[in-house]
Amino acid sequence: MDKTAPKVGIGIDIGGSGIKGAPVDLRAGRFTAERVKIATPHPSTPEAVATAVTEIAASFPDQVAPECPLGITFPAVMQHGVARSAANVDQSWIGTDVAHLMAEATGRPVVAVNDADAAAVAEHRFGAAADVNGVVLLTTLGTGIGTALLTDGYLVPNTEFGHLEINGQDAEKRAAASAREDEKLSYEEWAETRLQRYYSTLENLLWPDLIVVGGGVSRKADRFLPLLRLRSPIVPAELRNTAGIVGAATLAWEQLSPAHE
Ligand code: BGC
Repeated sequence: MDKTAPKVGIGIDIGGSGIKGAPVDLRAGRFTAERVKIATPHPSTPEAVATAVTEIAASFPDQVAPECPLGITFPAVMQHGVARSAANVDQSWIGTDVAHLMAEATGRPVVAVNDADAAAVAEHRFGAAADVNGVVLLTTLGTGIGTALLTDGYLVPNTEFGHLEINGQDAEKRAAASAREDEKLSYEEWAETRLQRYYSTLENLLWPDLIVVGGGVSRKADRFLPLLRLRSPIVPAELRNTAGIVGAATLAWEQLSPAHE
């Protein structure tokens, strides 16, 4: 196989406010065309979201071969393509075979995975955890907290450490970026009163070699990460808002492409 030939996959990131997709150069971990975004329909039922996904999947005919597998991220537990939870999405998703639904809708083979899991794979292949061996913990701080665990680059899917119970409360309700905004906390207050406890608990349970912090707020990582006292190195994600799409496209290719080397 020609290792220099372009290898382009496609990823779509389903989020609470937007559904975003792009073709991905799988050797470089970069988009090969501008991302397409559609506002998440309300209510965000599986059928309404499938219509948006189909439109995005058909947006790059010059870039992506018709038989190219599609990688999809979803913000819930995704067991073998089936949504098993719905912390921040419409409850009607629980039990939906997302991979099957989207494959029927788009006519492509589909891999559907948790959003943080996809981001972690992208960061390990192309970003802040590139080629880091040992235990890597990725957390995404957004509306909720997503987590992913890699060991020597292999993913243990569907860790849900955003829902650790700390002081009798769901951790993401206190420590997510949305909690900082809703409660109008400064970055210092957020780091001191929320993130410190959250990350100390995580590192005492998992002993990671590296913690990577993603989510939109990671753009401001210098305002809060240096304030945390942890034994593990903790660094901002590097792929930022492309990580989910890149990771999903990568996983789809690795799992479904007949030409996968
Ligand atoms: C969900 C996770 C998801 C995370 C980030 C949490 O509320 O339970 O599955 O990864 O939010 O979207």
